[in-house]
Amino acid sequence: MALKLDLTGLLAPPGSGGAPCRETFAAALPRGAEVRDAHLAAPPAWRRLPEEGRHLAACRARAEEVLAERPELVVVLGIGGSALGASALFAALGPVHPEWSGDGPPRVIVLDSIDPDWVGEVFERIPADRCHFNVISKSGGTIETSAQFLVAWDAVRAACGDDAAARRRFTITTDPAGGHFRRLADELGFATLEVPPGVGGRFSVLSPVGLFPAVLGGLDAEGLLAGAARTFARTAAAAPEEDPALAWALAHVLHMEAGRPIHVHFPYGHRLRLLADWFLQLWAESLGKRLDLAGEEVQVGPTPVKAVGPTDQHSQCQLYAEGPDDKVYTFVRLERHGRELPLPEPFADSPAFAHLRRRSLNELIQAEREGTEAALLAAGRPLCTLTLCKLDAFHVGQYFAFFEEATALAGGLLGIDPYDQPGVEAGKLAALALMGCPGHEERAERIRAERAAREPFVLEC
Ligand code: PA5
Repeated sequence: MALKLDLTGLLAPPGSGGAPCRETFAAALPRGAEVRDAHLAAPPAWRRLPEEGRHLAACRARAEEVLAERPELVVVLGIGGSALGASALFAALGPVHPEWSGDGPPRVIVLDSIDPDWVGEVFERIPADRCHFNVISKSGGTIETSAQFLVAWDAVRAACGDDAAARRRFTITTDPAGGHFRRLADELGFATLEVPPGVGGRFSVLSPVGLFPAVLGGLDAEGLLAGAARTFARTAAAAPEEDPALAWALAHVLHMEAGRPIHVHFPYGHRLRLLADWFLQLWAESLGKRLDLAGEEVQVGPTPVKAVGPTDQHSQCQLYAEGPDDKVYTFVRLERHGRELPLPEPFADSPAFAHLRRRSLNELIQAEREGTEAALLAAGRPLCTLTLCKLDAFHVGQYFAFFEEATALAGGLLGIDPYDQPGVEAGKLAALALMGCPGHEERAERIRAERAAREPFVLEC
């Protein structure tokens, strides 16, 4: 039961031009060890989540009340770090094609959008009075989540007929002290769970942000935390040269410095696809920064890209094998899939399928990944492979912990703050201004004036 990281193809043999090689890596390791010491000396709040049993206990207590009402569907309302963790969890560990009702736990869907077509259709179809809504917002002021909440409240209020019954259909996960949602919950008596202080959205999946939907949907939340705890313990106990999170982060930073800022996350497996989305946000939003810790303008950051194998072999691999050598690849593989699927042999005598005789989809997906890795290595492209022994909550917990740790270390190596997101905040404020939010009038005027000053270049197609 472990994650395994094979870094063999990530570093070039010694003397291969400017590409980071094992010598470059060894020379940079003391720098990495310093960053790691500082990180472990003052562990961030998210690193302590797997040991803080109180969050899971609070989720279980609230889930008991919620499940007593036998909801058919749980709808998570939130966006960004308040939604991607739950989406990834259910794609990886939830039922593949769940019915909206049945004997098991309720189906969980994550409504991480304000697309009027999608939101409108969902609310037309769901039985609002037999749903439970988990509104998640750390800041309590995100405009998308506020808008989703208004739509949901209106639908539930109409379906339930009175406020008290409607309120029971909501749980608000937010900051324990501040923000609009906290005030609303305190004033009107909505049940709440906390996003622990010091835990930012993209690092919050192991808090009630991910745990509460997991518990409601019947996932193994204990296993998730146990896997994360194991990875945090192992990375901290390892010598710096044996710490996989440090090795992965350091090698990526060295590749960035050598002109490879594009980092392709390449899971092989349909159920892993949203784990990749979760990782993309973590890596991009944590590391893409204008200023370093000294306040100097650096405009640094990797560009993460998602590819899901084998599907995207047929759309992206031409670029990867023959296009610019500006990328680093992390393949994610499952050692064992949940089931074996041998290929039937209805045309046993046909040469068309001879190579698939006595083979399984399991063998095929491994061969596809190995083949892609071999082709990229032959083209001199740096890659590594992260193996999950199997897809269960424990290994998904390890996956979350591994990339959180690596992201924090990469932030230290790049000399930036991986926990802020001023670029996202700027967009949020601009949207508030354009929606006419009081106090933002000047900003709205400036945006409109800047737009008007741009010479239009618009073509009809
Ligand atoms: O990771 C982050 O900090 C962001 O993606 C936030 O999670 C996202 O903007 C939503 O913010 P909030 O949880 O405050 O509503």
